[in-house]
Amino acid sequence: MSEFILIPPVDEAQEFIEIANDFANPLDLVREAISNAFDAHATDIRLAFDVETVAGEATFVIRLTDNGDGMNRIGLQSFFGLGNSTRRTDRTTIGEKGHGTKVYFNAKKLVAETQRDGIRLIAILDAPFSKLHDRKIPEVLVREEPCETAATGTTITIYGYNNNRRDRFTHGRLKDHVLWFTKFGSIERQFGLETLLGVKLHLKGLDRDEFEILDFGHQFPSESKMSMRFLISTSYRHRITTVAAS
Ligand SMILES: Nc1ncnc2c1ncn2[C@@H]1O[C@H](COP(=O)(O)OP(=O)(O)OP(=O)(O)O)[C@@H](O)[C@H]1O
Ligand SMILES: [Mg+2]
Repeated sequence: MSEFILIPPVDEAQEFIEIANDFANPLDLVREAISNAFDAHATDIRLAFDVETVAGEATFVIRLTDNGDGMNRIGLQSFFGLGNSTRRTDRTTIGEKGHGTKVYFNAKKLVAETQRDGIRLIAILDAPFSKLHDRKIPEVLVREEPCETAATGTTITIYGYNNNRRDRFTHGRLKDHVLWFTKFGSIERQFGLETLLGVKLHLKGLDRDEFEILDFGHQFPSESKMSMRFLISTSYRHRITTVAAS
C-alpha cells in the first residue's frame, strides 16, 4: 500500500475563458460595469458605445467611466485577477466573487485608467482573448504617474468586445437592459430608500451621437396614475380580490 498527495490542478487560461464567456447576454457587461461603479461609490457613470477605426479596422469600442474611488495597485490586481475581489468582506457591496471584470477579457484589447490617492495608473492588456486561447495568461503593462488633481475615478476602454459583434448595443436595448437588469434600475426609491437618488448615468448607444442622462431608479410608465406604494398596499389588493370575486 502507498499514499500520495494529489493537488487538484487548475487550468488557469481555461478558467479565464470560461468566466469571460459566462454570460447569457453580451449586454450583461453593462451590469458588471454598473455594479462595480456603485461598489466604488460613483455618483456619475458614463457608458459610451462607438465604432472607431483602429489600425485601419472598424472596431467596436466601449468606454465605461465612473467618478468612484478609483484603484490603487491592489485594486488593479483584483481588476485583472480571477477570483480576487477587494469587496469580499464588505457586506454593503454588490461584488464578491472577483469574476465581473473578466467579461472584458473577451476583447481585442483592454485599457483601464484609474486615479486614486494622487496616483494615476494606466493598465494595458493586449489581445487577452486570443492569448488565453493560445493557453497563455496575458500580462498587463502598467504605467504609474502622479496626477495633479485630487479627483478619483476609472475609465475602462474595451476594443473589439465579443469579436466585434455589436448588433445588440443600440441605445434602446441598452437603456432597457440598464433599467431592467442592473442596479441602476433598482426600485428601491419606491420603498423610500433615497441614498442613491442623485446618481446619474450618461448613456450613448451605437446609434446615437448624444448622451442621454438617466436618473437613478426604475422608470415607471408615465400614464400610470397609481403609485407603486398604492399598488402594493393592502387596500388595493383587497379591492382587486373583491372585484375578482364578484
Ligand atoms: N469601476 C471600478 N472602480 C474601482 N474599482 C473597481 C472597478 N471595477 C472593478 N474594480 C476592482 O476590481 C475588482 C474586481 O472586479 P470584479 O467585478 O471582477 O469583481 P467583484 O466586483 O469584486 O466581484 P463580482 O465578481 O461579484 O463582480 C473589484 O473587487 C474592485 O476592487
Ligand atoms: Mg464586480
